[in-house]
Amino acid sequence: MERPESELIRQSWRVVSRSPLEHGTVLFARLFALEPSLLPLFQYNGRQFSSPEDCLSSPEFLDHIRKVMLVIDAAVTNVEDLSSLEEYLTSLGRKHRAVGVRLSSFSVGSGTVGESLLYMLEKCLGPDFTPATRTAWSRLYGAVVQAMSRGWDGE
Ligand code: HEM
Repeated sequence: MERPESELIRQSWRVVSRSPLEHGTVLFARLFALEPSLLPLFQYNGRQFSSPEDCLSSPEFLDHIRKVMLVIDAAVTNVEDLSSLEEYLTSLGRKHRAVGVRLSSFSVGSGTVGESLLYMLEKCLGPDFTPATRTAWSRLYGAVVQAMSRGWDGE
């Protein structure tokens, strides 16, 4: 990505990453509201969650939120050249395919994951989430999903 866009990403992520768990929770609460069928994919020790609230307060799921925020953090750090993350992201895609996630949940434009990410950024940043910042994040998200989507190749 070009410098000015990278700068918008870095500046906005600095604000979000002050409280990753709080903002990650906003992201996943939105995701479960948009696509409730994702909830049963999260099972720890064979236990199913009875509601999104139940899931969002479990220590194992909070760890997943931390993992998600760390991946985004790595993407932000490498925003100008994501190629160093490509292999990792492909294997991450493969893992999500294995636990039953459909690529369509991640798709750019219509996917609920990307929509929930933008929703969380808007909630966190308010008026600072300008159209230019939104465009920059959509592009970064698109690049991450492109790398992850190789994990679904051959479907
Ligand atoms: C549709 C949304 C998602 C679903 C249903 C989902 C589901 C899961 C599940 C069931 C696991 C295994 C259990 C666990 O580690 O907690 C997992 C692991 C993981 N997820 Fe997700 N996930 C989603 C989105 C994401 C996103 C957006 C990211 C980051 C960009 C992410 C990053 C990770 C990481 C880093 C792991 C650990 C992988 C490992 O063990 O090496 N997930 N995910």
